[in-house]
Amino acid sequence: MSKPEGGSWTGLTETERALLRLLTVALRADEEAARELCRHWVRKPPTSSDHAVTLRAELRALLTTLPERSSERSPLRGGAARDAAWAPSTAADLPRDPETNQTLLRLGEATSVAGPVLDDACRAQVDRIVAERPIRERLLEVGLQPSRSVLLSGPPGVGKSMTAVYIAEQMKQPLVVVDLASVMSSYLGRTGRNLRAILDYAAETECVLFMDEFDALAKRRDDNTDVGELKRLVNVLLLELDRWPTGSFLIAATNHLNLVDPAIARRFDVKIEMPMPQYRQRKNLLAQIPVISAANVEDQYVSLMALATAGKSHSDVVKLMNSLAREAIIEDAGLGKFSERIANYAMVELREQAKADPDVRSQIISLAHESLGYSQRKIAQILGVSHPTVSRVLASQEKQ
Ligand SMILES: Nc1ncnc2c1ncn2[C@@H]1O[C@H](COP(=O)(O)OP(=O)(O)OP(=O)(O)O)[C@@H](O)[C@H]1O
Ligand SMILES: [Mg+2]
Repeated sequence: MSKPEGGSWTGLTETERALLRLLTVALRADEEAARELCRHWVRKPPTSSDHAVTLRAELRALLTTLPERSSERSPLRGGAARDAAWAPSTAADLPRDPETNQTLLRLGEATSVAGPVLDDACRAQVDRIVAERPIRERLLEVGLQPSRSVLLSGPPGVGKSMTAVYIAEQMKQPLVVVDLASVMSSYLGRTGRNLRAILDYAAETECVLFMDEFDALAKRRDDNTDVGELKRLVNVLLLELDRWPTGSFLIAATNHLNLVDPAIARRFDVKIEMPMPQYRQRKNLLAQIPVISAANVEDQYVSLMALATAGKSHSDVVKLMNSLAREAIIEDAGLGKFSERIANYAMVELREQAKADPDVRSQIISLAHESLGYSQRKIAQILGVSHPTVSRVLASQEKQ
């Protein structure tokens, strides 16, 4: 196996070289080379330790138990095996900007294992879209148009991109993502032409087309800047959305629904407004974060954290937990005190929130009482307020 360019492996041990070979193969995602390396190490293990015999047996087992992936393997990474319909076109087929030769689309990466945590309304809309796919012929037969497009909107980090990946996964179709930087051209007219090339491609190739930052392409025409070019773009989009085929599915996402041209927004079959997560979603989200289950964090701490992360997006909650876990591993040399860290963080946060706003304090008190079943004494202790204060708040809420 060749060395990486410019690398020097002299002086390294056999095991260290083996690691480098392995990483070279992995980074190239070269399955054949990985198998060859496996076969080579079965013949000549990269270590002279006492475990060489076990290692040989394990390598042999890897070769026999992991089946060779088929030639039309999916570039969409992620857990489950896909069926043939999932196999997407290759990067070579993707449309390009004629001048820069850059691809206007990229093949998406399916990395969501658990799927997004959504509130009931969004979940119902997403499930409905997915459920319509396999029965679209039947819908057409009785004169009903199946949904062909969805516009996702909402603040940053609430799972718009994740939902696009999830929908494509559930539909078992490749996700093709518009590369906005390549599509938007400073040359007059070129952006429209690029957009048409993309939409033509998506219409011909059964896929899920994902246009992120959709407001940049479909800006309201009452915006004074760029008027000529903008009008052209909006017209291209209007036309293409009207003749969008039922075979492909279009997902657009924006953080600024108010900036999207209303005529375009209306063309979408389904519009989903994705809100910031409420207590129940935050709790579900926390429960599916890998580090929480890895550390066996008890339910009461998860609930406390769900309470303390009010106002944070899904993405912020995930980042926060990962950062607390990282801190625990660095400072406590493991996740043994992770739950304690969670409790400490949550208490400080809840106290701050309660201090800053009496309404928030009341909400926290009632949630802690009703959803978590905490005693008045415990709530008083967490929030750093007196027991009578908690009683008063609960009594006044009961009256309402
Ligand atoms: N609804 C959700 N359920 C579970 N995890 C989520 C959800 N939303 C966000 N996350 C976490 O946050 C990360 C970023 O989310 P994502 O990129 O989908 O948000 P977005 O709404 O597309 O944000 P942006 O507007 O910035 O593009 C995800 O990879 C995931 O870890
Ligand atoms: Mg996104």
